[in-house]
Amino acid sequence: MNNLSTLLVVALASVTMAFTPVPSTHVRLQQQLTSTDGSSPSCVILEMGSRGATKWEKKKEWLRSRGMSDEDLDESTPTGNPMTPVNIIIAGAPASGKGTQCEIIKEEFGVVHLSTGDMLRAAVTAGTDVGVQAKEFMDSGKLVPDEVIIGIIIDRLAETDCKEQGWLLDGFPRTAAQAKALADAGVSADCFIFLDVPDEILVERVVGRRTDPETGKIYHMTFSPPSEEDTEVIARLEHRSDDTEEKVVVRLEQFHSNVAAVKGSYEEIMVAIDGNRSPSVVSEEVMDSIKAALAKRTQTAA
Ligand code: AP5
Repeated sequence: MNNLSTLLVVALASVTMAFTPVPSTHVRLQQQLTSTDGSSPSCVILEMGSRGATKWEKKKEWLRSRGMSDEDLDESTPTGNPMTPVNIIIAGAPASGKGTQCEIIKEEFGVVHLSTGDMLRAAVTAGTDVGVQAKEFMDSGKLVPDEVIIGIIIDRLAETDCKEQGWLLDGFPRTAAQAKALADAGVSADCFIFLDVPDEILVERVVGRRTDPETGKIYHMTFSPPSEEDTEVIARLEHRSDDTEEKVVVRLEQFHSNVAAVKGSYEEIMVAIDGNRSPSVVSEEVMDSIKAALAKRTQTAA
């Protein structure tokens, strides 16, 4: 190949990269950016599309390393693009095992885990405005008002890491208004996982739960205690102030009065899973459900 041909090939490759299809999440971002300042941010979007092309290969490598096939993934359309990250909502009663499953999901799918409970507890500890508003509700086991939490989540989902890696919403939406706010903002999930556990089991789980503040790992003093030799971990374990028999009654009331409306908003993508089995058995079903949702998305796009 002479110098002129080499130059032509390089130029052609650059143009192809620049016009790689932009994932649908990025199209939404483009709409948001356009409506903010009135100008078209096409250069930003094109740059994101080009970066996506490089990350595409990494994503394929990532899928293969986890024994998942990339063969069915169609790179020619935005929705079939494996670069389009997976978006998951996990719901269920207090202590149904959402946080426990999220630890495994985020490890497996590389998504950004957004736990509204953790975010609110951090705000309370930091004494921010949101924390001050939320504290009294959380202390009594009640839901924090919609207007306090909705804006935080919508803004957080618009951040780059959520758009590039996908997200895992844990504990949101919890009311009809929260589900509507997500829909109004154009935020949609691939999969809505609902963990089903009877109330009488939940009380025992709540009372025995302990959390390691350094690693965030969740334990249960009967079902999954830390190793006896791990004295440092045992010494620093925390018991949440709302994890009492008295407060869980209020938390369950709040859950039961809202759950039907939330489930109703996600009927088409909902997978109900029996959460009253060992965490590993539940996890297998959770993983299968997410993979099935991804496969369905690919088929729909084909
Ligand atoms: P949040 O922190 O979200 O509490 P929650 O929904 O009550 O859920 P939990 O964190 O208690 O339980 P989990 O389902 O994650 O269970 P886990 O895996 O830890 O919210 C706290 C408060 O914040 C709310 O009350 C409200 O005030 C406010 N808030 C949050 N989001 C809000 C929103 N969107 N709107 C308004 N207010 C909001 O497991 C529990 C225990 O069981 C652990 O000990 C674990 O080891 C054990 N366990 C887990 N799985 C199993 C299993 N399969 N078998 C046996 N044991 C298990």
